[in-house]
Amino acid sequence: MATLLAFLLLLLSYGVGSIRCYTVPVNSTDMLFLFDFKKHISRDPRGALSSWNESVPFCRWNGVTCSRKHPWRVVSLNLFELSLSGTISSSLGNLTLLKELNLSLNSFSGK
Ligand SMILES: *[C@@H]1O[C@H](CO)[C@@H](O)[C@H](O)[C@H]1NC(C)=O
Ligand SMILES: *[C@@H]1O[C@H](CO)[C@@H](O)[C@H](O)[C@H]1NC(C)=O
Ligand SMILES: *[C@@H]1O[C@H](CO)[C@@H](O)[C@H](O)[C@H]1NC(C)=O
Ligand SMILES: *[C@@H]1O[C@H](CO)[C@@H](O)[C@H](O)[C@H]1NC(C)=O
Repeated sequence: MATLLAFLLLLLSYGVGSIRCYTVPVNSTDMLFLFDFKKHISRDPRGALSSWNESVPFCRWNGVTCSRKHPWRVVSLNLFELSLSGTISSSLGNLTLLKELNLSLNSFSGK
């Protein structure tokens, strides 16, 4: 009986895990590029990028807009006036469908 219960629990947790994996497709490379962009932000005093975490689908992250036609592809990044500092990661260049980029009024440095 205990074995059966353990098995059912295992099934249940496996099921929940699958649902989570399904939310964001594994091959949405745009998410990896955004995470890399975030890694280069050294200061975020207003917590503007706190929604940039794995429990929120990246198309709903603050400032991120995804394409309607191409699922899980970023078309716009608007981080206007958020007091961010750090460098601008070159992985932004990997967001190949990006049409709008607004990083005005922050304190980015470097290339
Ligand atoms: C993920 O990659 C596979 C194989 O390259 C492709 O068929 C599928 O459409 C991709 N999924 C998304 C959401 O881009
Ligand atoms: C992820 O972002 C959401 C929305 O901003 C927030 O409520 C949640 O606490 C964050 N989770 C973590 C682990 O930071
Ligand atoms: C950047 O975004 C802000 C707020 O959405 C907007 O007021 C401003 O005009 C934008 N700047 C450019 C260059 O688009
Ligand atoms: C962006 O693309 C370049 C060239 O393909 C690659 O070397 C780099 O690793 C990519 N960046 C990330 C964060 O994967």
